[in-house]
Order: sequence, then C-alpha cells, then structure tokens
Amino acid sequence: MIPSVLPTYSRANLHFVKGEGSWLIEADGRRFLDLGAGIAVNALGHAHPALVKALTDQAQNLWHVSNLYEIPQQQALADKLVDATFADTVFFTNSGTESCELAVKMVRKYWYEKGQPEKTEIIAFDGSFHGRSSAGIAAAGSEKMTKGFGPLLPGFAHVGWGDHEALQAAINENTAAILIEPVQGEGGIRPLPDQCLKGLRELCNTKGILLVLDEVQCGVGRTGRLFAHEWAGITPDIMMVAKGIGGGFPLGAVLATEDAASGMTAGTHGSTYGGNPLACAVGCAVMDHVADPEFLDGVNARAGLLRQKLEGLVAAHPDIFEGVRGSGLMLGLKCKATNMDVVNAGYSAEVITVPAADNIVRLLPPLTITEDDISEAITRLDAAATILESNSKPT
Ligand SMILES: Cc1ncc(COP(=O)(O)O)c(C=O)c1O
Repeated sequence: MIPSVLPTYSRANLHFVKGEGSWLIEADGRRFLDLGAGIAVNALGHAHPALVKALTDQAQNLWHVSNLYEIPQQQALADKLVDATFADTVFFTNSGTESCELAVKMVRKYWYEKGQPEKTEIIAFDGSFHGRSSAGIAAAGSEKMTKGFGPLLPGFAHVGWGDHEALQAAINENTAAILIEPVQGEGGIRPLPDQCLKGLRELCNTKGILLVLDEVQCGVGRTGRLFAHEWAGITPDIMMVAKGIGGGFPLGAVLATEDAASGMTAGTHGSTYGGNPLACAVGCAVMDHVADPEFLDGVNARAGLLRQKLEGLVAAHPDIFEGVRGSGLMLGLKCKATNMDVVNAGYSAEVITVPAADNIVRLLPPLTITEDDISEAITRLDAAATILESNSKPT
C-alpha cells in the first residue's frame, strides 16, 4: 500500500524534534551536530533568537496579505537586497525552483520585448541542478531527473562543466542566456574558478547574451561573500536565490538589473505567497546579519578553520577520504568509500552530512557554527570514518 506521504524521498530513520544553533535533537534525546543545515538553508542555525523574534512578532500582527496590496516587509527586503547587490529589482518566490521558473521566463520575455523572439535557448551545464519543475529539470538536463517526464520544455542546451570549446560551439543566433551555479551543489561541490566566471561574463558581453547565476545553494553568505560571484568581481544580469535567504522559512527571490527585468511588466508574473509578510520579516532579519561585513569575516575565519581541520581528517583516513573541495562553508569531502556509507556512519556518530554527486559528502553547516562545534564536527567525522574502517577490516 502506498504510504500516506508520497514516497519520493528515501529518508533516514531520524525524527528531529528541536534545533538549537548547530544542533538537532532527536526524539530519543540524542544530539546531532548539524553539518547539513537543511541543505544550506538554516544559514543562522536553528532557532536563532533574531529570526524567532522576527517571525513571532510578525505572526502576532499579519500572516498573509495578497500581492494585490502593498507589503512593507517585502519592500524592506527588496531594498536591502538592492542596496547590497548588483540588482535593481527583486521578485520574491517561495523556493529555488520557482526562482528558476521566473529566471527562464524573464530571459525569454527580455528577448521577445527586444524584438528578437527567436532567442529562447539557455545554455546550462552538465551536473547542474536548478530545481524539480518542468523548467528546472529541462535546465539541468540530467537523465536522472528528466527520465519519464517528457516531453521536456524545449530551449535548453547542455555543455560539459569547464568545456570552453563546447560552450563556444553551443552559442548561436538563438542563444538567449547562459545559466550556471558559481559553485555546483548537488553536482558535487564544484566551484567554478573565478577566471572562468570572469570569462563567462566577458563571453556574454561579447555575444550579447544574458548571464543568469543560480545562487540558490551557494548564495547568502555561504562562500564567505554575500553572493559567490562577488569573489570573481563580476555581476550577473539575473540571479536566482532561495534557501539561506529565509533561514528556514520558505523564501526565494530573483534579482535582476533594470535592463534584464525590462520585459516583466504588470501582469506578466505573480505568486500567491511569494514575498508574504512572514517570509519577508524573517528574510530582513537574515539579511541584517549576513550582509554585515563583520559577519562575513567570521564566516571566512570559520571556513578556514573547518577546511584546515578537514585536511587533517582526510590525511588521517586515506582509505575513506580522497580530499576536500569547495568554497567557504560550502565544502565537499571527496570520498574513496561510498559517500552514502560515510553519511550513514555519520548518523551513528551523531553528525549530519549530505551526499552529493561525484561521491561527495557535503558539509554545509550553519554559517554561525562555533569553533568548538567545528572541533566537535571533526571528532564525530573521525568517529564515522573509524566505524567504516573497522567495518572493512577482515575478521
Ligand atoms: C542550485 C540550486 N538551484 C535550485 C534548487 C531548487 O531549490 P528548491 O528546492 O528550493 O526548489 C536547489 C535546491 O537544492 C539548488 O541547490
């Protein structure tokens, strides 16, 4: 009999009932160190007092009002994002997938309004992930996500990650945009070198196409800058955001320049919930922390410490791990053991990690993780690796 919850997830047998900072408490009382943060969502950890206050204060007053009316919290959050980034304008969504949908629509409408409606094709990259909607799976293009869901939304081309020649060859008179994650998340924590992002920007400028960045996972302070593309000193035309911006409350956004957004006039897009008062009150509180340069300095310091300790962990367990990669607090342990075995051994050692493609175990802790918790993380990951080593010893 089919379960009452549609069985699309393979879930671990864990039932968390409470979160405190970087910790998750299981129903049986065990305390797990959370290096997953809801897959890069709980940017300020669990139950951060400023977020709890923002949410509960707002909940006392007004939960929801339609976008038919002014929403001051939405305006405030848009102003914060515009002040802190390349963007001139913001549309609020509830998730990364919805941000992808709008980014695709915005690109198409841009060229339509410019009198070049044939420009509909978006070039994306192998190993990418942009969400589970029809546009999201067509954009990512991997068979794992698209199989059985055809016919796919047309208008996407795919090239290999880092394959410059294929990219050049894929551009034609119908190319509308390039869509890329500055650091691939699901694809296995693969950061795009700054030089490549700069090169992409130049290529888009030369060919007159839009650059769309998906910062759903790598944005909002995760790499030690407010947005990951800032490391390369470039700006996109359109950017997808979600996850960390709501700190655990469903919230996403599409940020754009005035020019890129010029096709999106009244009535061309909308959302019942997107940008509602609860979400935006929390989003404002997240931004007040994450956009603070001192906070970002702290993220970089913590990231440096974690990475250094992870290098030691890898060296201590050469049969389990191969190396560390990533950017800021978006790190991947490349495994020699099967990554899911490492994640499962982590559950036994009461530490939460997240698998990704290319046999990677992702570490995406709250950006607020303390130095003590970083040390504890290494102790627990070491225990997980030791479990696997003793399992594989001949008896
Ligand atoms: C880079 C990227 N884009 C888009 C998405 C989809 O976001 P959501 O699950 O909020 O719809 C994700 C989710 O993991 C993501 O990592």
